[in-house]
Amino acid sequence: MMKLECRGLTAGYRELVVISNVSLTITQGSVTCIIGPNGAGKSTLLKALMGLIRIHEGDIVIDEQSLMPVRTERMAQLGIGYVPQLSNVFPTLTVAENLEIGGYARGGSSMDDVLELFQVLKGVLRKPAGKLSGGQQTMVAIGRALMGNPDFLLVDEPTAGLSPAIAGTLWGYLKALAGRGMGIGVVEQNVRLALTNSNDAYLLASGSIRLHEQAADLAAREDLEGLFLEAEPQEQN
Ligand SMILES: Nc1ncnc2c1ncn2[C@@H]1O[C@H](COP(=O)(O)OP(=O)(O)OP(=O)(O)O)[C@@H](O)[C@H]1O
Ligand SMILES: [Mg+2]
Repeated sequence: MMKLECRGLTAGYRELVVISNVSLTITQGSVTCIIGPNGAGKSTLLKALMGLIRIHEGDIVIDEQSLMPVRTERMAQLGIGYVPQLSNVFPTLTVAENLEIGGYARGGSSMDDVLELFQVLKGVLRKPAGKLSGGQQTMVAIGRALMGNPDFLLVDEPTAGLSPAIAGTLWGYLKALAGRGMGIGVVEQNVRLALTNSNDAYLLASGSIRLHEQAADLAAREDLEGLFLEAEPQEQN
């Protein structure tokens, strides 16, 4: 099984360092979640992995092969799909057009493959993606990444603002993709949902990894809520 790893990654926005010395592994065939309070740097970590922001130090590696210097436009070709937290569909393009765009950088999956997973999109292919429900838009965004037949998929908060039922459905899809051998990395605000559906969990706080455990072990800890509260930035007076 291939692994996507970052080692000692320090990154941020221009001179500003947001994440420090972060090491993390995403393994094919399993789901790795990244949890942590607002502003912890979860999205920043995914953006750094995708080469979207300045990397000050550290390495990003697939199977011992360094990807440094990371070039965003090559990530899809290297087999890494990314679904950003916001603005992850082209709202005025149709669902079909959104999916087609995902296949440009690297083919390998057909729209039929994607629609077999997200059956509900079959009936709305000609609709502008912006007219769909939140859950369906997330499926389009994930589907677009899947069009490149990635080995690894990084997803930033796929369930934000969605009903618990839809959130559960989306996690079911992510687990199914891991079951087919993909390596899934997910940032999720709903800690319980993340831990019950993941194999591995990282708690990120103030830009650093505070904990790394098997998700089931972390879920079983009685001090979980306390750990999470401790991870909140201290209030400044
Ligand atoms: N484009 C940017 N320029 C400068 N600073 C930024 C930028 N985006 C985020 N930050 C800062 O980086 C820090 C981490 O933000 P980030 O979005 O990674 O957190 P997060 O853990 O994803 O939070 P949330 O749960 O709210 O999505 C915050 O202090 C934020 O203000
Ligand atoms: Mg975020």
